[in-house]
Amino acid sequence: MNTKLWTVDKQDPIKYSYPQIKEASDLLIEGEVVAFPTETVYGLGANALSDQAVLKIFEAKGRPSDNPLIVHISKKEQLTVLVDNLNETARKLMDAFWPGPLTLVLPKKEGVSQYVTAGLDTIAVRMPDHPVAQALMEISGLPLAAPSANLSGKPSPTTAMHVEEDLIHKISGIVDGGATGVGLESTVVDCTADVPLILRPGGVTKEQLEEVVGDVEVDPALIHQEEQHKPKSPGMKYTHYAPVAPVYLIDGSKEFLQRTISVSLSEGKKVGLLATEETISAMNTTGITAIACGTKTDLSTVATQLYDALRAFNATDVDIIYSEVYPEQGVGVAIMNRLEKAAGHRIIKE
Ligand code: TXA
Ligand code: MG
Repeated sequence: MNTKLWTVDKQDPIKYSYPQIKEASDLLIEGEVVAFPTETVYGLGANALSDQAVLKIFEAKGRPSDNPLIVHISKKEQLTVLVDNLNETARKLMDAFWPGPLTLVLPKKEGVSQYVTAGLDTIAVRMPDHPVAQALMEISGLPLAAPSANLSGKPSPTTAMHVEEDLIHKISGIVDGGATGVGLESTVVDCTADVPLILRPGGVTKEQLEEVVGDVEVDPALIHQEEQHKPKSPGMKYTHYAPVAPVYLIDGSKEFLQRTISVSLSEGKKVGLLATEETISAMNTTGITAIACGTKTDLSTVATQLYDALRAFNATDVDIIYSEVYPEQGVGVAIMNRLEKAAGHRIIKE
């Protein structure tokens, strides 16, 4: 398949990049799959109201069919064809965080494609805060089902180049609107229960949600992956975000990290280090591949750069990757959730 590439203006795509947006929208209307930027990560979009189009997403990604998709909308009116009943909690969260990195799980309306929701009676919906995503929905007039635009199991894409790496010749087009901002996927909140439940930590933190709706719970399966709990969000059970070499999280001092690296080097291994700029500059990195991701003084910079850093190791010949850990506060919760998955929960404690 020929994959079209369009580069668009990300501030005002309709004004400055109309022909490209129109061409991409027409493909979406024809039932094709097109990748586009959102404020979190790149999405792999298709007409959410067409079974045929939605099935193409699963095929291109190699996504298990029991893992439902998020439906993206540009206007709240679009909810009327997707969602059955909006409670007070959902309304408050939408008013506070949309457009933005928050996905709400809501009762689904009769008639929504069973493929989008993987047969569940709920539907995940979000309104992305990105002019390119909004322009595509506005010009096509469609709600877009869109998972992250990576091959299943790989880190989510934060640039059009990442999408190309994974999906060239497998999809009809990629709209390049530059690097995404948040860098981690949206927070997924189940609003169907009495107390809203976080199914996936992300760009909007638990603290921010609680300011708007009071108590919020976290799916117990997310708290250090207690094995006895099955996650309520189907996608959370899959290994994910993993580079080719195995990742180990090092929970301890810099000295411990340095010693762990030395042991691997003495065993003849090629070692990768994923850490903040300040950690890397404080360490002896002779003979290893160190890739920086952000600074600890502002964890949002780690979120923004994490997936690019994980992917960058695939262009190296490292046998093993050591990563430092982050405080589980604010966006640190989402960072650690993704890192633990990338590491398959291999954590070495000092
Ligand atoms: O930031 C994001 O959310 C990105 C951008 C493209 O919008 N999208 C994204 O989609 O991360 P995806 O498919 O990679 O992750 C969607 C997550 C999965 O864990 C899936 O299982 C869960 O949302 N999900 C979708 N529908 C659900 C539902 N009805 N109930 C529970 N979980 C659901
Ligand atoms: Mg994904």
